Amino acid sequence: MDLLLNVLPSDGSTMGNQAVREAMSRSADRQISEEEYEEIKGSGLALGLVVKGRGRGGSIARITPEMRSGVTNDIYSAKEVSADHKNDNRETTEKQQTRTLYYGDNINTLRAIATNSVNLIYLDPPYNSKRVYNCSFGGNAQAKAFDDNWRWDHDQDNWMSVIRDHSKELWGYLDALLKIFKRRDGLPAYLTAMSVRLLEMHRVLKEDGTIYLHVDQTASHYLKVAMDQIFGGENFRNEIIWSYKSGGASKKNFAKKHDTILVYGKTDKTKFNPQKEKSYIQQCGFKNIELYQDDQGWFTFVNMRDVWQIDMVGRTSRERLGYPTQKPIALLERIIKASSDPGDLVLDPYMGSGTTIEVAETLGRSWIGLDVTHHAVACTTSRLTERCGLAEEEFDIVGVPEDVDAAKHLWETDRTQFEAWAVLGVHAIPHQTKDERIIGLRPFSDIRESRLIESKAIYVVCKHLRPELSDIVRLKGLIREQEGEIGFLLSLEECDDKMARALADEGTISQNNGKIQNQRLQHISVRDIIENPASARRFFCMERSKIHGRVDTTEQIGLFSPPEE
Ligand SMILES: C[S@@+](CC[C@H](N)C(=O)[O-])C[C@H]1O[C@@H](n2cnc3c(N)ncnc32)[C@H](O)[C@@H]1O
Repeated sequence: MDLLLNVLPSDGSTMGNQAVREAMSRSADRQISEEEYEEIKGSGLALGLVVKGRGRGGSIARITPEMRSGVTNDIYSAKEVSADHKNDNRETTEKQQTRTLYYGDNINTLRAIATNSVNLIYLDPPYNSKRVYNCSFGGNAQAKAFDDNWRWDHDQDNWMSVIRDHSKELWGYLDALLKIFKRRDGLPAYLTAMSVRLLEMHRVLKEDGTIYLHVDQTASHYLKVAMDQIFGGENFRNEIIWSYKSGGASKKNFAKKHDTILVYGKTDKTKFNPQKEKSYIQQCGFKNIELYQDDQGWFTFVNMRDVWQIDMVGRTSRERLGYPTQKPIALLERIIKASSDPGDLVLDPYMGSGTTIEVAETLGRSWIGLDVTHHAVACTTSRLTERCGLAEEEFDIVGVPEDVDAAKHLWETDRTQFEAWAVLGVHAIPHQTKDERIIGLRPFSDIRESRLIESKAIYVVCKHLRPELSDIVRLKGLIREQEGEIGFLLSLEECDDKMARALADEGTISQNNGKIQNQRLQHISVRDIIENPASARRFFCMERSKIHGRVDTTEQIGLFSPPEE
């Protein structure tokens, strides 16, 4: 059967449901076999079925009436999903699950979000900068956050046909660019990926909702044409210039120190709460205005203009998390206050470190955050728990493995994301090695002969399902290279007796002034990470860094004793 699968919750309201989560994490617009189709059909989940190669072989006819009735009325053809939004039975404005972070490609999650349900969308997507962005976690620890290089592949072909079904004009624009550029990689591939997602964002936005598209000069002019077609030129509201100062300036051009934020409504009913800013007065001859004074002089408040001078998150900023392209809280505060009210729903489909989510939570808005990396989900989670004071039960995380089978699926489909997930799960700092694999680093302090010393634990994901001797060799090599002292092998399956002995044979280290003997090499299974995280994260030394590299010796935990379990 030539089908592409995209799973949708059957009533649009159950995105927290375990079965739906699993199905969503398995979906991702891929081809499915007849057996898998039957299996999912049997589970009672709704399906979005997009037929590949439409028009050549009458593929929609392959979904038989029995299939349709068997899978409820939630089967959509590509055309129905993308073009017939008005009759879309995902319209569940009241039921849309919020306060949720979704791991995965946002195209899948966006398709499952209820129509007309979101008050405000802020997106800060990749800009087609042709760069790879790294997270830096302090010291030498860093790992790839996301890749902003664009190639045309079969996804782009599929998306072009979805776009053509929805809007001939938008398709014509992208097609014209393909002809003008005479290549498909780079900008055309990027704009196609953006357009198909912007169509979904238009669908989920409420009638009085607003979308803020944050980009830079690389593609803002091309995206504005696409936005005019998707949201309507008449719904264009503002081009905000975010102006900042940052180190480094070209000697060949004027220094490029601004980003562009394109603002669109969905209709002419767009909600807007005017914001005020200070305006300093040179001469005081005005009547009937209230004047204030600060250390820069006299000022009054005026309606905010569209050029915003806000500092970037600098190297020494308290906001800084090491996530590349992290946006300042002050920027998101303006946007969220201007275009939403308390209780409104804010969506960030490219959430990164989670700035939008933190600000939305702080300002009493509901929120949904999507990202395709585990770094981003972990970073946002720690902002919500540490900065907003939320307990982990107070919000939901979807798409992150919740049982060993789901972890195995991630291992099979995306080894890098599996490695990132596993090392973040034991609260280690992800670090990318030369062979592009992710290991975990966990700095700790210890007392030896009554002196404080700094050291590191190294976490390595095993190459196969369970540890093998070659993993021990690699771990020992990485301990040497990273100047660590203690090492952990992480694997999907349990360690057998032979390997347990091999690990024990590597000896012990003496910690806490000789009061504790710890095995130098140890093993942690995925089951431990999922079912007993406190034990998997247990560490018998002062932990002097948190997962995102903020070194704060006042926050030391697990001081020389296992944590309470
Ligand atoms: C520029 S960063 C966002 C930074 C964010 N505004 C902040 O303040 O930290 C872009 C993010 O989009 C994510 N991303 C890229 N493609 C994605 C996709 N298809 N689905 C979901 N997230 C994606 C990347 O992983 C990255 O975290």
